Amino acid sequence: MADVVAISVQVEAAVRAALAEVLPVELAGVDPVVRRSARADFQADGALAVASRLGRPPRDVAMEVVRQISRQADAFPVEVSGPGFVNVTVPDGAVWAAVAQRLADPRLGVGKSRSDERVVVDYSGPNVAKEMHVGHLRSSVIGDALVRVLGHLGAEVVRQNHVGDWGTQFGMLIQYLDEHPEAAWQGQGAATMSALDALYRAARAAFEADPGFADRSRARVVALQSGDEPTLAVWRALVQESEEAFARVYARLGLLLDAGDLDGESRYNVALPGIVAELLAAGIAVESEGAVVTFIDGVDDPDGDPVPLIVRKKDGGYGYAATDLATLRLRVEHYRADRILYVVDARQALHFRMVFDTARRAGWLPDTVSAEHVPFGTVLGADGKPFKTRSGATVRLTDLLDDAEAAARAVLREKGDDFTPAERDAVVHAAATAAVKYADLSTTRTRDYVFDVDQMVASSGNTGVYLQYAHARVRSILRKAGEKAQGVDDAAPAHPAEKDLGLTLDAFEATLRDVAATLEPHRLCGYLYDVATAFTRFYELCPVLKAEGAARGNRLALCTLTSRTLATGLDLLGIAAPERL
Ligand code: ARG
Repeated sequence: MADVVAISVQVEAAVRAALAEVLPVELAGVDPVVRRSARADFQADGALAVASRLGRPPRDVAMEVVRQISRQADAFPVEVSGPGFVNVTVPDGAVWAAVAQRLADPRLGVGKSRSDERVVVDYSGPNVAKEMHVGHLRSSVIGDALVRVLGHLGAEVVRQNHVGDWGTQFGMLIQYLDEHPEAAWQGQGAATMSALDALYRAARAAFEADPGFADRSRARVVALQSGDEPTLAVWRALVQESEEAFARVYARLGLLLDAGDLDGESRYNVALPGIVAELLAAGIAVESEGAVVTFIDGVDDPDGDPVPLIVRKKDGGYGYAATDLATLRLRVEHYRADRILYVVDARQALHFRMVFDTARRAGWLPDTVSAEHVPFGTVLGADGKPFKTRSGATVRLTDLLDDAEAAARAVLREKGDDFTPAERDAVVHAAATAAVKYADLSTTRTRDYVFDVDQMVASSGNTGVYLQYAHARVRSILRKAGEKAQGVDDAAPAHPAEKDLGLTLDAFEATLRDVAATLEPHRLCGYLYDVATAFTRFYELCPVLKAEGAARGNRLALCTLTSRTLATGLDLLGIAAPERL
C-alpha cells in the first residue's frame, strides 16, 4: 500500500514550494512554519517570519505566497490573515479521504522508513544481588517505549541489558557467604531478592567495619578474576537468581526485554586489558597516580583541574569506564550499529561524555555512528527529595507495583463493574501498569517527577488509565453500533468537531517521527491525550448511534480510526488497551 501523505505534510509542501518561488534564492529553504490553528485548519507563519529579513511588508509577502499556492494544481483554499499569516482551509472531502486511507491500512498509514538503520538501545541495567529500584523503572520503561517506536518505524533494533554482574562487590558478597553460612539466600521464592539485598547490606557493613574481612574480600576478588572454580560457582548462582528475579519484574511490567538481551558487565572482562593497552599505546590514556586515565578537553573540576576518566584503577582493577568503552566497541564492530542509545540516569552524563570522547579519539566510534546518552530525571517522593522509604532505604520496584495495583483496584471498585474476579484481576493489572508507565513516560524525560500513586491511577486528567477508559469507551460505542465501519463518503460535509478529530488522527505518523527524532516518549503521550480530547468533543457534538446514512458511516469510521490509533499508540508506549475497563 502506498504511504499516506499526511495533510499537514501536503500543506507544508505547498507553502514551501510557494515560498521558493517568492523568495530570493538564498532564502528559498526557510521553514514554512505550518501548524494547526484555532483560526483556520492550518496556519503558516513562514512568510511573516522572513519578511523582515527582506525589508518588505509582511502582508505583501504573504499575498504573493497565497497567489502562488492558488496556482498549484489541487491547491487548498488559502488567504492572508492578521499581520501576514497564511491561513489554509482543508476541504472536508480531503479530511474524509485521509480518514478512509488510514483506515484501509493495518499500519494506519504509518510508513516504514526504507533505511535499514540499526539502533542499539542499552536500557534497564539493574545490578545483581540488589533489588530493582525506582531508577531502573525509568530506564526500563523509557527504553522499552523507544525500542517499540523505533522498531515500528522500520529500524532494526538491538536491545542490550547491561546488567551490573561484575566488580569488587562480588568479592565481598562471596567471602561473606563463606564465613556466614546462616546468610544463605537460596530457595526463598519471592523473598529471595530481599534476602540477597539483605546479604548485600550485611556484607557491606562488615567490609567497612572489619579490615580483616575487607582484606579477605579483596583476595576473593582476585580469586574470582583468576577463575577459581568454587568462587565462580557462587558468583554464577548469584547472577542466575538475580536475573530470574529481573525477568519476573519485566514480565509483570510487560517489557520486551528477555534473556537474549542480557549484556552483563562480565561479558567484557576479556576485552579490558586490550582497551587499556591500546589507549596507552595511542597516547590517549596516561598513567596518573598509579591509575590509567584519559582527560577530555574542557572537562575540568571547579578548581580548573582536568577531571580524569579512570580506565584502570590504582589497584589494577577495571572500572565502569573501561567496560563502557568496550560496550561501544562491540556495538560498532559486532552489532554494526548506526546509532547507539544509552538510556541512563542524567547523573551519569559526564561519564558518557568522557567515554564517547575517548572512544572517538581511539577510533572505536567512527563519525558515521552516533552515540547518545538518553538521560532522564530522578523519581521523587512526596517531600520532593529522591524517593526513599521512611527508613531511608531505596524503594523496591515490586512494592511500588503492589501499591499501584491496590490503588487501581480501589478506583475500579468505586466505578462499579460486572467483571468476574479473574477478569477484574486482569483489568487491575493492566490499569496499574498503565498508570505507573504513563506517569513516567508523560513527564518530559529530563525532568524529575513525584511518584504519586493516587494521581497516577486517576481515571481523569492526562493519565494512562484515562486513555484506557477513552479507548474502551470508543470500543463500547462500536460494539453498540453492531456493524463494521462501512465506506467513508467523502462528499459528505464535516462538522468542525469531525474535522478536528480527523486532522488530529492524521498527525499520528508525524508524532511518531517526532518521538524517534527527539527520543521523547512524552510527545506520544501528549498526542494520544489530544486524540482522546478531540474524540470527547466530537462525541458530545456529533451523535453517532442516532445518526443515519453517510453521517453515520463517516462517524463510525472516525470512531474506528480513533480506537485503532489509541490502541496502537498505547502499545508503542508498552501499555495495554483492554476492550473493557
Ligand atoms: N548498572 C548501572 C546502574 O545501575 C546502569 C548501566 C547502564 N548502562 C551502561 N552501559 N553503563 O547505574
